Amino acid sequence: MKIFIDGKVRDTRAVWFENDKVMMIDQRHLPKKVVIVSFDDYIDVAKAIKNMTIRGAPSIGAAAAYAMCLAALKKCDLIKASKEIKEMRPTANDLFYAVDYMMVCLSEGKNPIKAAESYAQSIINKCIAIGKYGAELIKDHYKIMTHCNAGALATVDVGTAIAPMRQAWKDGKRFFVYVSETRPRLQGMKLTAWELLQEGIDHAIITDNSSGYFIKKGVDIVIVGADRIAANGDFANKIGTLEKAVLSKEFGVPFYVAAPTSTFDFNTKIGENIVIENREGEEVTTVDGVMVAPVGCKVLNPSFDVTPARYVTGFITDKGILKPNEIRKVIK
Ligand code: MRU
Repeated sequence: MKIFIDGKVRDTRAVWFENDKVMMIDQRHLPKKVVIVSFDDYIDVAKAIKNMTIRGAPSIGAAAAYAMCLAALKKCDLIKASKEIKEMRPTANDLFYAVDYMMVCLSEGKNPIKAAESYAQSIINKCIAIGKYGAELIKDHYKIMTHCNAGALATVDVGTAIAPMRQAWKDGKRFFVYVSETRPRLQGMKLTAWELLQEGIDHAIITDNSSGYFIKKGVDIVIVGADRIAANGDFANKIGTLEKAVLSKEFGVPFYVAAPTSTFDFNTKIGENIVIENREGEEVTTVDGVMVAPVGCKVLNPSFDVTPARYVTGFITDKGILKPNEIRKVIK
């Protein structure tokens, strides 16, 4: 992704490996400033996954692969490291997929750096393919809605839900994107809007609770990402996705889910079995560190919801656009 730092354009990724260190953009500071952090211990990368320095399912996966790489380079106990890394966040399948991938590579004696680099590159390649397939769905003058951040920050580079928009814009199509802010952490407003602004893609931030208003008024397509897709096509994504899916069906708007094959989990048969992360109430009661709720109130803060497959028009994957009942046949 191209980002502007101190007036200069820099080509970067959400996470990468340099001089035996894992480097990442600390997403907690965006859009105010671009802070790049580095880690040389796997446990610190694991903590960065937990505290949202890095987030978004495919980026979490790549960070986990690099964490395993550090553990191997420092000759740590790999079984212990793999368990600790997997404990950091429960919902995104990519975290588990990446750690298992690295365990296989390392048990086969593969070079840890090459294995992790090849994992991260494979994610980027998948996102490029998602962009090409998904761009076909976008027509000139479309009004598109997205939720949370499924852009380059969430996927090492390029994006999943945002990839078709990047590609279509490059192809010369002109359209407009509704970016829902995504309470409580505001990944839509802080991260997606920031990415679209840098790409020059026309968009507006909307409050989460105005999605129905805009869908009813006239959205042409909704495209979101996913954290885990069950075998029956039910999927977990950022809290607030379910409402958009149900509203889309009600008002006849095509609803697409963009995700690489690493997000599909056929060991989970139905969405009900997906573990939903509950995060601390402080995320809800404070805005940029300032308490805005009455002190002492209880807070419920599920970070994801599960949308039933019947609301999904199609999955935009690196293997093409698939209906929920086709995913098992095509993705191995
Ligand atoms: O809690 P987050 O910010 O990690 O949640 C991210 C999302 O829900 C994204 O939509 C999802 O990971 C898809 S990212 C391509």
